[in-house]
Amino acid sequence: MVSRLKGEKSEGGCGASFLAGETSGLTNLNPSLFDHAPSFPYNEDTMKWVYIENIGGHVEEDVEIRGWVYNKRSSGKVRFLLVRDGTGIIQATLFSADKDHPLFRQFDALTQESSVIIRGSVREEKRAPGGYELSIKDMETLQVALDYPITPKEHSTPFLMEHRHLWLRSRKQHAVLQVRAEVIKAIRDFFDGRGFRLMDTPILTPSACEGTTTLFETEYFDQKAYLSQSGQLYNEATAAAFGKVYCFGPTFRAERSKTRRHLIEFWMVEPEVAFATLEDAIELGTDLVLFIVERVLARRRGDLEVLERDPKPLEAIGKPFPRLTYDEIVPLLQKKGSAMAYGDDFGAPEETLISEISPNPVCITHFPAKIKAFYMQPDAVRPELVLGVDFMAPESYGEIIGGGQRIHDLSLLERRLQEYKLPREAYEWYLDLRRFGACPHAGFGMGVERTVAWMCGLKHIRETIPFPRLLYKIYP
Ligand code: 4AD
Ligand code: MG
Repeated sequence: MVSRLKGEKSEGGCGASFLAGETSGLTNLNPSLFDHAPSFPYNEDTMKWVYIENIGGHVEEDVEIRGWVYNKRSSGKVRFLLVRDGTGIIQATLFSADKDHPLFRQFDALTQESSVIIRGSVREEKRAPGGYELSIKDMETLQVALDYPITPKEHSTPFLMEHRHLWLRSRKQHAVLQVRAEVIKAIRDFFDGRGFRLMDTPILTPSACEGTTTLFETEYFDQKAYLSQSGQLYNEATAAAFGKVYCFGPTFRAERSKTRRHLIEFWMVEPEVAFATLEDAIELGTDLVLFIVERVLARRRGDLEVLERDPKPLEAIGKPFPRLTYDEIVPLLQKKGSAMAYGDDFGAPEETLISEISPNPVCITHFPAKIKAFYMQPDAVRPELVLGVDFMAPESYGEIIGGGQRIHDLSLLERRLQEYKLPREAYEWYLDLRRFGACPHAGFGMGVERTVAWMCGLKHIRETIPFPRLLYKIYP
């Protein structure tokens, strides 16, 4: 890439005008910075571009780091540059007795988030952040950043949210999204390792899955379409084709709730298993949660530290998770001060009270059919209750998993569509699944962002996704 950058310069392509600072807004840059001739002779073919996370494998070697200025300071004859490249932060040092050294002048012009290429030798340095240091031999400035808005001082959340595209570069945000990526990888490894087939279900759908009040409507040529609230219904079809499946993608809820647990667009993983029951879904969900917690503890401790997330509550998670029926939990919550009546759904205060029951997630089952979706299988003995399960996360993180057993009986499902006033035509294909090889089947959905918020110990879900979609807020 070094040679490409240089090539662009001489060829005068679009990169060239950028590098030469000819683009409007960049004209106040000193073009000489870009024309800087390397003072340090190096071989472009052998000089290694190394990511900071791998720097430990290059001690005593000359390497190149490409990144952004995180911070800098000077002390006498030494200049310290903290450079981040997305994989880590390294301290780079410049030493010279000559205060007019060209690299010093270049250093002095650097601002927070300026893009740079630095070349030098790697040293082990216990006192430096990360344990390694780079002695700078040569440096190229690609762009001097202009008044980067997110300075090390405190900023308000609305300000940071307006600058989310830049905020992502901050250490804590970086750590959260590292944990997110790990959680997603863990989820995939879990299901792939258990022989589940990944099925990508559609985002544009002709019908509702989770109630009609939270549907995003859009035009689909001469028809109406809705953004998917859940891939479940389609997954029931793919489960009948593949036995056990999971879908994993963005889902949408036009929910007018401005809480710390709700996003308008969130990612959900949804397993579905043919010939499975509520019990199987609970067991699978329990194993999934444990797998994720263990993986995050094993691989992302450094990020948890950056986030000042106490790992102890996560380390304490273990099987079995306590189980309570809706009938059991309501009086318990009322005793603890909840104002909910029998037949109400849980609100945020109830979710908090439930998390006081155990250091583990709590599984709640057998809800009144009225507060749950149309597809839930009724209990054989008390048909007014359904075989659903909600996993309530500890530490007040609320419901992270919702699912259960689905109706497999054709006439019952037909009745439910009527009772829920759902347009039958849109569900004909779904009814087919009960006409051709109906079997009990079960599954659930786990919200990625709520799980990440819990892992990271965050107060609000909005930081768990690169660009959160919140009530009335879609910028940036
Ligand atoms: O309980 P929900 O609505 O269940 C379903 O959508 C089922 N069809 C899933 C299935 O059985 N395949 O949502 C499942 C999970 C919740 O437990 C929560 O973690 C997350 O999705 N979730 C949200 N996360 C962020 N913002 C929102 N507005 C969410 N709504 C649900
Ligand atoms: Mg739910």
